[in-house]
Amino acid sequence: MFRSSSAVQRSRNPLKYQRRTVAAVRAVSYDFAAAARNPPACHPPWRKRSRTMPADPVRSPAPPPERQPHCTGAAAIMVQLIRESYAQVQPRVEDVAQFFYAMLFTIAPDTRELFAANMQVQRSRFMRALMHIVQNVDRPDELVPFLRQLGRDHRKFGVLAQHYDPMGTALVTALKQYAGPVWTPQVEKAWSDAYGLVAKTMREAAEADPGPAWWTARVVDHHRLSWDLAVVRVTPEQPVPYRAGQYVSVEVPQRPRLWRYLSPANTPRPDGSIEFHIRAVPGGSVSRSIVGHTQVGDTWRIGSPMGLMTVDRSSGRDVVMVAGGTGTAPMRAILEDLTQWGDNPEVTIFVGGRTHADLHDLDTLTAMAATNPWLTVIPAVESYPRTAGMEHGTLADVVTRFGAWPDRDVLVCGSPAMIRATVSRMLVAGTPLDRITYDPFTVD
Ligand SMILES: Cc1cc2nc3c(=O)[nH]c(=O)nc-3n(C[C@H](O)[C@H](O)[C@H](O)COP(=O)(O)OP(=O)(O)OC[C@H]3O[C@@H](n4cnc5c(N)ncnc54)[C@H](O)[C@@H]3O)c2cc1C
Ligand code: HEM
Repeated sequence: MFRSSSAVQRSRNPLKYQRRTVAAVRAVSYDFAAAARNPPACHPPWRKRSRTMPADPVRSPAPPPERQPHCTGAAAIMVQLIRESYAQVQPRVEDVAQFFYAMLFTIAPDTRELFAANMQVQRSRFMRALMHIVQNVDRPDELVPFLRQLGRDHRKFGVLAQHYDPMGTALVTALKQYAGPVWTPQVEKAWSDAYGLVAKTMREAAEADPGPAWWTARVVDHHRLSWDLAVVRVTPEQPVPYRAGQYVSVEVPQRPRLWRYLSPANTPRPDGSIEFHIRAVPGGSVSRSIVGHTQVGDTWRIGSPMGLMTVDRSSGRDVVMVAGGTGTAPMRAILEDLTQWGDNPEVTIFVGGRTHADLHDLDTLTAMAATNPWLTVIPAVESYPRTAGMEHGTLADVVTRFGAWPDRDVLVCGSPAMIRATVSRMLVAGTPLDRITYDPFTVD
């Protein structure tokens, strides 16, 4: 388990429009609403599974674990038809996505204005979400929460219930276009049924959400810590109902319609203010703009809170946090929340970066540890020369050097590469998969 080290700071330590499309649309016209009213038989009983590591469709950097089919009979056949036909189109997902969006904008031109001008990132996110749906099509216990969240979140893009049917038509047409000979009437029905359910789940979640599609917030402070890092504090008109450790999507006036996820670095406050730590990534359209051009008085839009990272104080298990770069933000929010309680699990937080300068929040965490004996902060840097009082190496190296952490709940946050490396190394070292939680950063 945890081995002490001198380095430990134990501080109490459209594609060109394809002319075939209109004819193709007619060929797959389908009653999605009827399909949603009569779902296939693999629905209840759904086996309840408990898995902490989210198979996040949009962001998942790790392959899903081996799966056993959950359905039998006609439903299992539907699942098999979907997976086999998807395997045929998978090598050409980019083409499928281009065809799909071109088709959508042709049959429902009003949807074009909902999307940003450059569709490249969106195409890849949608196809990754589709892959996740295919992988989990027989696992509603995993799929339904994701779809409900996605449906609620789609409200902020201006998506309406009537947009779902043309989307389904465009999707099935695109799949048919690229599936080749495996596409049969049975395959088409399987996809149409599945899409009907997906759309129903998303629509119903959106309709049922009593909260606003987004919150409006005013920037009250913009503080640049370095050329590529800024802290921005906003005050929403109404408190955003997030939990410490969750993240929200944000739209800034300098980059309209380009929503990006950011993690509040504080636990919810009585005045509702939220602090964000933003690092400008090379070539980044939104992060560079926030760091460089945010002004006090700017109005931001903030989407529904999401994410699974939390500390379960009732589990009886101690905790390891692994945070790279601005990945410290949600960890700090969770720690701030824990400091309000008298009795907490032991928490060891590894904070890493390439250089000492990357550990922008180390002083705050160290100060927190100074008054909270259950907290231990272990800084790690990759660059040479070695820095006294700090571990040396990547976070993946350092965390696993300290042990396998088999009995701890593990929270990981940072860049996609850091999460991928850390989670893989921890699994190899012996950390149980079910104990690891992350809300991975987008891998575009
Ligand atoms: C759950 C979650 C929480 C997040 N919380 C924060 C946060 O608190 N603070 C913060 O600064 N960022 C955070 N991010 C990342 C943020 O949402 C954006 O992805 C990031 O700011 C880049 O956006 P951009 O528009 O500047 O770059 P884009 O224009 O979208 O991309 C430009 C280039 O940067 C690469 N890129 C995109 N994201 C990253 C990344 N995270 N690391 C390295 N390269 C990247 C892309 O692959 C592309 O090559 C979070 C992401 C997720 C998914
Ligand atoms: C099967 C149903 C759908 C799935 C699986 C899906 C999936 C996704 C995903 C994964 C994203 C990225 C979300 C993010 O980055 O936060 C997204 C964004 C978006 N979706 Fe959907 N979606 C669906 C239906 C729809 C429909 C019906 C519309 C309306 C036409 C729509 C319009 C949008 C828009 C406008 C965006 C934002 C794009 C951008 O950022 O430029 N989606 N969708």
